[in-house]
Amino acid sequence: MGSTLGVAVVGFGWMGRVHTQAYARVPHHFPDLSVRPELIAVADEVPGRAEEAAAQYGFATAARDWREIAADPRVQAVSVAAPNFLHREIGVAMAEAGKHLWIEKPVGLTADDARAVAGAVAKTGVQGTVGFNYRNAPAVAAARELIAAGEIGTVTHVRIRLFSDYAAHPEGALTWRYERERGGSGVLGDLASHGVDLARFLLGEIASLTADTAVFLPERARPTGATAGHTRSTGGELGPVENEDYVSCLLRFASGARGVLEACRVSVGEQNNYGFEIHGTKGAVSWDFRRMGELGVSRGTSFQDQPVSTLYVGPGHGEYAAFQPGSANSMGYDDLKVIEAHNFLRSIAEGTPYGATLEDAVHSATALDAMARSAEHGTWVSPGN
Ligand SMILES: NC(=O)c1ccc[n+]([C@@H]2O[C@H](COP(=O)([O-])OP(=O)(O)OC[C@H]3O[C@@H](n4cnc5c(N)ncnc54)[C@H](O)[C@@H]3O)[C@@H](O)[C@H]2O)c1
Repeated sequence: MGSTLGVAVVGFGWMGRVHTQAYARVPHHFPDLSVRPELIAVADEVPGRAEEAAAQYGFATAARDWREIAADPRVQAVSVAAPNFLHREIGVAMAEAGKHLWIEKPVGLTADDARAVAGAVAKTGVQGTVGFNYRNAPAVAAARELIAAGEIGTVTHVRIRLFSDYAAHPEGALTWRYERERGGSGVLGDLASHGVDLARFLLGEIASLTADTAVFLPERARPTGATAGHTRSTGGELGPVENEDYVSCLLRFASGARGVLEACRVSVGEQNNYGFEIHGTKGAVSWDFRRMGELGVSRGTSFQDQPVSTLYVGPGHGEYAAFQPGSANSMGYDDLKVIEAHNFLRSIAEGTPYGATLEDAVHSATALDAMARSAEHGTWVSPGN
């Protein structure tokens, strides 16, 4: 193991904790990595939260103001895990301060925000990695390889789904996620952003789309204290939900393939039901995040009545070998973030990007903006860039 790299985390809610744990674990899983992350600083605006994180995980410094991190010469790389409305300001400032950036999706409120962060990263020459973790699953890597190798023929159509109940409870608090100003879009940025990234990662660019959105729970109670993740609130004053709970979208890919992407945050009875079914002229692949290590595969020359088998991912698929020596040992969500941390640190060590970049975030955000425009005007829209 070579030199140390000073890292910091801004925003210590759910994702801040996951990034921190990933930094701690990455040397265990990727011992050949030539940089070793050292936890230098953590910032969170909630009083005491950064101090608690420092005590639990061993950050040298705790702060309430992220600007202290931007000014800290010991910090060379920063995780931005604060709410969406802060991504642009913090991301640009960190890049301009010469800090490499591991930033959570959707990278801001709009494609403009994502472009601003991408621009700062390109201009300053720092590395930028984005939290599109689902593409890191070894089964998704296996699906990509099968498709690219022509194993399912020419891709004809795909269904991508992201259904969750995290906002389904009527007492779910009106956190930043439901406000235009601090959250931006709703399920578009939260879940459909991952769906667009998977679509592009597996099938290439989206040429045009048409979308429909809906708000199903129009009011929520304001939180009465500090929040993290999906807090409940009762008795608080009711306020309006300002962004969409649901999106359905028809996709036309540049390749000619067709697709349906559907995402919902208020799906009662669905917990992290994320996945895809991709059909080609000779076969099909399907994946469900909840059975992360399994890929449904149909291939052969039968066309009709062609069997479907389960491929249990193993050491030959994606980064699986960094975790287990044999197939069908289950991996978890946190492992996808360890892979992402490795991509980030390896990008820094080698001076060339690995994994999802700010360019990918711009593409995803552009498609989300196009979905919002299409839903408003009822037309087909080309995401462009
Ligand atoms: N990749 C994924 O699968 C995934 C999953 C969940 C969330 N996310 C993304 O991660 C980001 C954070 O989401 P979360 O679920 O962790 O939210 P969260 O509400 O749990 O945590 C956000 C944290 O940021 C802190 N914060 C707010 N303002 C701040 C400021 N000015 N300076 C420093 N800290 C501040 C809050 O106090 C809180 O601790 C969002 O952009 C979200 O879209 C990604």
